[in-house]
Amino acid sequence: MNLLNIYKIEYYYTYQYNFVKKSMKFFIDTANLNQIKEMQELGIIDGVTTNPSLLAKEGAEPIEQLKKICTIVDGPVSGEVIGLSTEKMVTEARELAKIASNIVVKIPFTKEGIKAVKILEAEGIQTNVTLVFSQNQVLIAAKAGASFISPFIGRLMDNGQDEINMLRESMEILDAYNFKSELIVASIRNSRHVIESAKMGAHIATIPFSVLEKMFKHPNTDLGLEAFLKDWEKLQNELKK
Ligand code: E4P
Repeated sequence: MNLLNIYKIEYYYTYQYNFVKKSMKFFIDTANLNQIKEMQELGIIDGVTTNPSLLAKEGAEPIEQLKKICTIVDGPVSGEVIGLSTEKMVTEARELAKIASNIVVKIPFTKEGIKAVKILEAEGIQTNVTLVFSQNQVLIAAKAGASFISPFIGRLMDNGQDEINMLRESMEILDAYNFKSELIVASIRNSRHVIESAKMGAHIATIPFSVLEKMFKHPNTDLGLEAFLKDWEKLQNELKK
């Protein structure tokens, strides 16, 4: 193969790689139907993540709630298993997968969970490895073939740990190889976390409703709009004279 062809192949893969990297996805981290609908209508939501605590907050029957969520959003909707053994996780996951074709099964990062991930992914059931707090856990989940991996950066920050460095190194690990796993930045506490995730090219950020709301807001936008409208009205009145 001559040098020109090598360059062509390299250019092609670099282009493809960058193209994939440029499509950051936003998931909403909630089980609340109104919040999901509101953000879905804005057209900025690519998926939903829930967990047992978020579902408990809604007080509805979890399977029914997940079914409703899947009718609102076409993209991946994560629902979590409760069982702790591989066998129980796999059985529960198979049931959850029957809810809809876009269900992703959240599996906690444990040895039993990692075994379940291998089994489920081989069956074509997408998994999201959750409760991930270290770069080593990211690497193991990727090696197990998880479709998604969710590092909980907010809880690391709450513990006084460097959540941004954990995220950066996790992305470096995933980028260094050809793992199929997509990283979902989870436990996001503020809009800065979303910016840091985007700067690192994180595939997905799962964002609470309150943070998404803040991302829309800037006082200068409101003040600027008010001033434009006032000036416009002034001009109209002057033209009428
Ligand atoms: C995401 O998948 C998790 O359910 C969620 O982000 C956890 O966030 P928390 O730390 O705010 O509970």
